[in-house]
Amino acid sequence: MHPNIKSLFMLDENITYLNHGSFGACPKPIFESLQKYQTQLETQPVQFLDVDSQALMIKSRNCLADFIDCNPENLVFFQNPTTAINEIVRSIQLNKNDEILSTNHEYGAMDKTWDFICRKTGAKHIKSTIQLPVKDAQTFTDNFLAGVTSNTKIFFLSHMTSATGLYFPLDEICKFAKKHNILTIIDGAHIPGHFPLSINTLQPDIYVGACHKWLLCPKGVSFLYVDKKYQSQIDPLVISWGYDSEYPIEHSEFQIHHYWQGTRDVSPFLTIPDAIQFRENYNWEEVSKKCKLRILEFKNEIHQIIKNQSLVGCEPDKWLGQMYSFQLDNEDFITLKNIFITDYKIEIPIMRWENKTLMRISLNGYNSEENINKLIDILKKKNY
Ligand SMILES: Cc1ncc(COP(=O)(O)O)c(C=O)c1O
Repeated sequence: MHPNIKSLFMLDENITYLNHGSFGACPKPIFESLQKYQTQLETQPVQFLDVDSQALMIKSRNCLADFIDCNPENLVFFQNPTTAINEIVRSIQLNKNDEILSTNHEYGAMDKTWDFICRKTGAKHIKSTIQLPVKDAQTFTDNFLAGVTSNTKIFFLSHMTSATGLYFPLDEICKFAKKHNILTIIDGAHIPGHFPLSINTLQPDIYVGACHKWLLCPKGVSFLYVDKKYQSQIDPLVISWGYDSEYPIEHSEFQIHHYWQGTRDVSPFLTIPDAIQFRENYNWEEVSKKCKLRILEFKNEIHQIIKNQSLVGCEPDKWLGQMYSFQLDNEDFITLKNIFITDYKIEIPIMRWENKTLMRISLNGYNSEENINKLIDILKKKNY
């Protein structure tokens, strides 16, 4: 699809990589920027960690705030969305019978986190069933809101789902939550760099996102956004020097609490401006647009072979991005996954979700028509 772009990535030539969605893939120029910061750190550890990285962290955070359109004072870095959500879940006061309303499409680690806190507090984790195939935003909103009761305290939803690879239209749900005083926590792990995001427009109370997936940062770059109104309720997961800090606070207390978390390598966070510059240099919006169009074509092609119904009914361009999940008949997803990686050298996720085996293709600028056709040919020949 974009032959010159492939050489910018470090991916193993012998593997057909159709799994950008899991852990992303970092282009060489961005990885070199990571190494540049790591070298600075190891050359002068104290100067870098105590002084130089501070301004760079602020620059990076401001750059990200600009990219996702939010107030930088409401933004802190985390290594991954799971840790950020764990902090939130452990901070919010939950009482017996409070309900967290979620969906049946959430990421498994998040489900487990909510189950854990519900077991501890007596709160209830309720999941609205989002009917498949999805058809329009109104039906989606109605499906979700059907789970609301007078005990609903929190809405927790993915902005794009993991196993089913669906972009959820959340505007009406966020508006409903505001009107009814329900806290919205959005899991946007797949959004930055994949879909335009304006936190100021969506107005969630809390939003987490990963930059090491579609924004092409090296691993360990994620963020937590918390609306000012709720920041005082959020306890840092790690208490360190920022707590009751004697040093002048140059940004919000919420940020001071999160800045220093013990000795760690902050270099990955500093690559955000480089990742955004990379997108501009290589016109990544156009690359992403092409991949999204190719996903729509792939959807049609694959259902000529796979007779199972698509998870998407109408308006596929509204529900899909650079990923597409489709159902296979084989229940033994572990063996199947091994066959794809070992025999075919194809890296592609195959998962069990709601008694279905789902295969999820991801496309990014480094993927070729050859990559896609290789998968299609195998699925044509073998009855998986
Ligand atoms: C929807 C969704 N939420 C959260 C996560 C968690 O990401 P991590 O394991 O990096 O914390 C993922 C990971 O793929 C995801 O797909």
